[in-house]
Amino acid sequence: MVYALLLAGGKGERMGANIPKQFICIKNIPIIIYTLKCILRNSNVDKVVICCHKEYIKFTKELVKQHCGDEVERIDICEGGKTRLETVICGIEFIKQKNKISDKDIFLAHDSVRPFVSQRILDENIAMAKLYGAATTSTYLVETIQQVNDKNEIVKLLPREGMFSGQSPQTFNINKFIEYYSIIDKEKLKNTTDLADIFILNNNSVKIVIGEKENLKITTSFDLLIAKDFLDYNGTDILTKFIK
Ligand code: CTP
Ligand code: MG
Repeated sequence: MVYALLLAGGKGERMGANIPKQFICIKNIPIIIYTLKCILRNSNVDKVVICCHKEYIKFTKELVKQHCGDEVERIDICEGGKTRLETVICGIEFIKQKNKISDKDIFLAHDSVRPFVSQRILDENIAMAKLYGAATTSTYLVETIQQVNDKNEIVKLLPREGMFSGQSPQTFNINKFIEYYSIIDKEKLKNTTDLADIFILNNNSVKIVIGEKENLKITTSFDLLIAKDFLDYNGTDILTKFIK
């Protein structure tokens, strides 16, 4: 089985809107619904669990009912946690309570604020996680990497080759992830938002799937403009691809 965790436990502080950014509408449709539709379209995904901030569970249920028709049968909603990683752990606990997990089962965690994830990225994540146990989406860096000191002076320019920038989805074998998470020193996880650390800190490798610029994470109001332009540019074509 492949379970998708749609991460919606954040409150979007940097966006500063009066609702968490995943619920902001672009062309009258909430961002989280675009993302959910991308995941539901993927034939490798069996079930979706939306991991939601507890104040928005009821609201999310209503949105799903309104936008997803018969697909609601494949969708569950659970409460998220204080950090992205804790939200993922809540999602895994929820899956474990409702299902018998086998050693082959996979979860794919995707940010609800990355509404334009491609089917290729989803397919390759799932295929890689099945083969290797762990996969994450990463893109090539285009900017120069500078190490800067506390006086705002550059101390070193770092070589760009071999440096990547992380996106989601991140996809893992469920039992392996639970095992590695249980033995890891939790202090080491304090500053991480990246699930790959659970494998890396246990000396296990994580394969990368090459990401895309289009798989943008909506963080600030400028990103909303880009997302709207992207939808305008792609016209009804992209809307019919994503929305029933
Ligand atoms: N996320 C989550 N649970 C948390 C924190 C974040 O599920 N406790 C999710 C967000 O909902 C988002 C994704 O992780 O889909 C990426 O996080 P980010 O862009 O940082 O979203 P927010 O934490 O909501 O935004 P901010 O950091 O600006 O407050
Ligand atoms: Mg955050």
